[in-house]
Amino acid sequence: MNRKSLIKYFRLIFLLLFSFMLSCGGDDDINVVIIDDEGETPISVDFDIIVSETNTFEISVNNTSTGITGLNSYWQFTENGEVVPDVAGPERHVYTMSGDYLVTLTVEAPDGDIAVSKTVIITGTDEGPALKVATNNTFSMGMAVRSDRLTGSHNAVLVREFNNLTAEFEMKMDQIYKTEGSLDFTAADAIVDYGVANNMDIHGHTLVWHNSIPGWMNNFSGTDEEFETLVKDYITTVMQRYAGKVRSWDVVNEAIEDGSNNLRNSIFRVRMGDDYIQKCYQYARDADPNAILFYNDYNVTFDSGKQSAMFAIVDDLMSNNLIDGVGAQMHIAYDFPSKAQIQSVVDGTVSRGLKMHFAELDIRVNPNNDITSLTEQRAIAQQNKAKEVAEIYNAIPDENKFALTLWGMRDSESWLPAFWGQPEWGLFYNEDFTPKKSHTGLIEGFR
Ligand code: XIL
Repeated sequence: MNRKSLIKYFRLIFLLLFSFMLSCGGDDDINVVIIDDEGETPISVDFDIIVSETNTFEISVNNTSTGITGLNSYWQFTENGEVVPDVAGPERHVYTMSGDYLVTLTVEAPDGDIAVSKTVIITGTDEGPALKVATNNTFSMGMAVRSDRLTGSHNAVLVREFNNLTAEFEMKMDQIYKTEGSLDFTAADAIVDYGVANNMDIHGHTLVWHNSIPGWMNNFSGTDEEFETLVKDYITTVMQRYAGKVRSWDVVNEAIEDGSNNLRNSIFRVRMGDDYIQKCYQYARDADPNAILFYNDYNVTFDSGKQSAMFAIVDDLMSNNLIDGVGAQMHIAYDFPSKAQIQSVVDGTVSRGLKMHFAELDIRVNPNNDITSLTEQRAIAQQNKAKEVAEIYNAIPDENKFALTLWGMRDSESWLPAFWGQPEWGLFYNEDFTPKKSHTGLIEGFR
């Protein structure tokens, strides 16, 4: 047999072998050995394919061929798909839908191309990877919940996508401490129990907030000392009840007055003094030394005066080791604040070595009240903003990451329309619980 017919003979064997492997649905190794023109160097064409453990939609392929030095090779991740040049080291590809895909490595050999294909089966739902998976486990994915929205489709979405829960309102003081002398943990317990049962972190929100003071406390007729004891006892009792279950707390929420950037003249400041924040964090630290303590506030991205005021509070707390993280409430709009403004609060937090919580994310699409339904264009703008936020968060050093929390599931469940008095479509799921484009934006940003 001369050399040319030897090559043809081996090609025939290869084709037969290849069709056989394919007909078996084979994703086993395929090894092709041919003799090149000089009959000296065997060419072996093969590759490894690995599906990522953290993102079942992502594969990594690595060309393990030998004897192909100087020959061009390229990948196709789907049949007749785009051609991607093979470079040194592994290549990544992320699918957007589940299915069986034929991955092909082609080597342009002198006597004709040699192609090797393997089938990879991508599983998951067609919505793409779950949010908590797309984070690559470097931070947790949070959702604001209510005790009456933990079953049925809510439960399905929560379990699939999230691993950190914040009570939207049921762990606030006006809910737990409705009546003087008696604490009611019914709703809070339901949320905490649900989170624990589902292996989720719980972020406690919030111990001290000027907007959730029970009526009776506003009219408290005791002395300032008695008031202070009341607050101390409240923080201690709540935190100790949930120690080991609630991993982190917003101790004081929104202490800074808009405009002046002074401390709000809340009843806590009036009764306990200008150092009431220090006092509250000290009570919290003492109550549960293992809890991660946050200060949480809004408009701290674009309002540089408010941001400075917040970091002044934070620095004060840091000097006594009373704080571990900063929560920047992300009540933002599709066109505002800018990427640089969002980045600035991250930089201030990271430079202090603290954890960054992107808390309460919702993205208004109708801040100027100029649309009457969610237009395609605005949905895309919202997706782009979500992607930007996710990219910024993803780029934070791992040790400073904590969680990105969405402030509700479906648009109809959002606090935004009631708060602003107009429709906003600020959230991430449609009425039928399927993800909106804004959800895709988050996934894209995490990549
Ligand atoms: C809002 C909730 O979404 C509403 O359901 C509740 O009635 C009022 O509070 N900043 C915060 C959140 O820190 O607690 C607020 O949540 C939104 C603004």
